[in-house]
Amino acid sequence: MSDKTAIVIGASRGIGLGLAKELASRGYRVIATERSESEGLREAAERHRPQIEIATCDVTDKDSVAGLTDRLTAGSVDLLVVNAGVYGPDDQSLAALEREAVADIIDTNAVGPVQAALTLLPLLKKGGTIGMMTSKMGSIDDSSGGANYYRLSKVAQNMLSRSLFESHAKERGVGVISLHPGWVQTDMGGPNALIDVETSVNGMLDLLEAESEPRHVFLAYDGSTVLW
Ligand SMILES: NC(=O)c1ccc[n+]([C@@H]2O[C@H](COP(=O)([O-])OP(=O)(O)OC[C@H]3O[C@@H](n4cnc5c(N)ncnc54)[C@H](OP(=O)(O)O)[C@@H]3O)[C@@H](O)[C@H]2O)c1
Repeated sequence: MSDKTAIVIGASRGIGLGLAKELASRGYRVIATERSESEGLREAAERHRPQIEIATCDVTDKDSVAGLTDRLTAGSVDLLVVNAGVYGPDDQSLAALEREAVADIIDTNAVGPVQAALTLLPLLKKGGTIGMMTSKMGSIDDSSGGANYYRLSKVAQNMLSRSLFESHAKERGVGVISLHPGWVQTDMGGPNALIDVETSVNGMLDLLEAESEPRHVFLAYDGSTVLW
């Protein structure tokens, strides 16, 4: 095991589970979180013992995020990936938008993830990096419309991630990368998605590990820049 440490928030399945496994393969100590017991994460922790440590965290619950700070010392973490996210209701047409459901998805996909990153920021080393899992669907420039709940939540996340960087992370020498994982074969991406989890997570981890100067940019898994 190397002396590197990573935290993955939302590692029960899909991309987050893939990130936890690949980070362990790369030698990291990994704090990987779930909301409820995940068989896949337990199997990964068994296979990568003792590197993957399982913790509980819901990004919409401030106490559960704060609980993670007890497990690690300040300035000890190289990488934090906030991966948690939901797609939202089936009908996402403009006419179907309802205030309560808008608030819910903004809480889960934008406010919760960015506040979680802010809470965990003191754990990061100077020169560490935070990966915020957003989506190309949160690019206004790239948008063809539709998927309105999901898109607005990821646009909101992107803006709050900029604030996280400008107002908090930059002064600590920590970068914030808004990540588009590609269209990935997971529960959310579905079986027809273009790439598998391994391709996505390897691409994103290569990018995050290559960061040197603190900055906030929007990158796809293949290293291309996504327009805001
Ligand atoms: N798949 C794609 O093609 C794609 C494309 C662009 C962006 N993304 C983004 O990539 C991320 C992962 O997507 P995925 O495809 O792996 O989705 P997924 O298979 O549906 O997994 C979502 C993960 O987020 C966790 N999560 C959801 N709400 C949470 C909360 N309130 N607190 C903590 N964890 C929570 C889930 O935990 P539970 O198991 O407890 O539900 C699960 O671990 C998401 O942010 C998604 O928006 C995915």
